Amino acid sequence: LTLSGVILLLAYLLGSFPTGYIAVKQLKGIDIREVGSGSTGATNVLRTLGKGPGAFVLVIDSLKGVLAIALVYWLFNFAESQNLIPPQVDVKLWQPWLVTLAGLAAILGHSKSIFLGFTGGKSVATSLGILLAMSWQVGLATVGVFAVVVAISRIVSLSSIAGAIAVSIFMLVFHLPLPYVLFGIVGGLYVILRHRGNIERLLAGTEPKIGQKLATEP
Ligand code: G3P
Repeated sequence: LTLSGVILLLAYLLGSFPTGYIAVKQLKGIDIREVGSGSTGATNVLRTLGKGPGAFVLVIDSLKGVLAIALVYWLFNFAESQNLIPPQVDVKLWQPWLVTLAGLAAILGHSKSIFLGFTGGKSVATSLGILLAMSWQVGLATVGVFAVVVAISRIVSLSSIAGAIAVSIFMLVFHLPLPYVLFGIVGGLYVILRHRGNIERLLAGTEPKIGQKLATEP
């Protein structure tokens, strides 16, 4: 139980690391939460600073997700090597559940960062890292859906929402264990909820395409 608590806390802190905020603060001296969509994610960094910094934030934020899952395996291995796991605990049974919980803690951290007064991004990049770590097939298939929608619509938020819906389906198609399917459902719903503002703009027809500014901006 203590080990699980440590893992979840570390996963949350990892997710909380404010890559986009730091990048924009360092390179432009402004608070990214006050420009564009107000999100600290890669899309808003792309909008504010361009492709290079946007790609950088996308990679680092995805890595946070990969690391959160790797952490579960590292700490379990460490605890096993030190004989810290009681014999009645079935590691094989618990690990996938902890992977799921650590993934959810990381995406929560990304969008409600302890370092940014519980604000942040929309958890898309971090979720992608987690998916790739859980199952590269599901990760790539989801990227495929995202890529198709982005190629057609040129709207990142719509593509993220399509990807978030597709995840659960791919989890079932690729026969992933129940905890991962639950990650797909809960994480997917969470990511969609984080896009509430985008959904309103999509319905109003004011959501910007890649390269366009938000209508409210000067
Ligand atoms: O990755 C987040 C994306 O789906 C939307 O970002 O800044 O356009 O709200 P943004």
